[in-house]
Amino acid sequence: SGLTDADIVFQSYGRCNSSATFYDDFYEAFTGKSPAIAEKFVNTNMTRQQVMLRGGIKWLLTYALGMLDAKLQELGKSHSRGGLNILPEWYDLWVEALMETVAKHDPKYTTELDDQWRRVMKPGIDLIKSHY
Ligand code: HEM
Repeated sequence: SGLTDADIVFQSYGRCNSSATFYDDFYEAFTGKSPAIAEKFVNTNMTRQQVMLRGGIKWLLTYALGMLDAKLQELGKSHSRGGLNILPEWYDLWVEALMETVAKHDPKYTTELDDQWRRVMKPGIDLIKSHY
């Protein structure tokens, strides 16, 4: 078929989005990765967590489709050392938590799909990290 990795990942994201506990499960997985990460979210409510993940993934994926990167530049700035001070190595944990959650919620999950997700998100994540 003519579907690109980004198309396939978008479809997987759609299936995850229709699962009611996807975002809660991501946060549980992510904050469980390190006490330093949990500490960053002590004052964050669930609504803002969902905004972060819903908007964040969407921008990573649209960047992969070749769209404007202004939003990711902004995220790079908000997450940089002068802002939220998100250490570059924490993005690996973010990706691990996300992929564990996708594996749990996408009924069509495969290891190939896992690789596709990682490949599609990498350029956007590298861009965010480059602002640190
Ligand atoms: C806020 C996306 C990685 C911690 C946000 C917001 C978005 C976002 C859209 C809300 C807007 C803003 O504040 O700029 C992403 C994406 C990530 C990512 C797409 C991965 C590529 C991380 C990581 C951490 C983190 C690794 C580590 C702890 C936070 C915190 C906030 C935030 C603490 C503020 C929450 C609040 O409003 O209290 N992120 N983020 N993010 N992010 Fe991230």
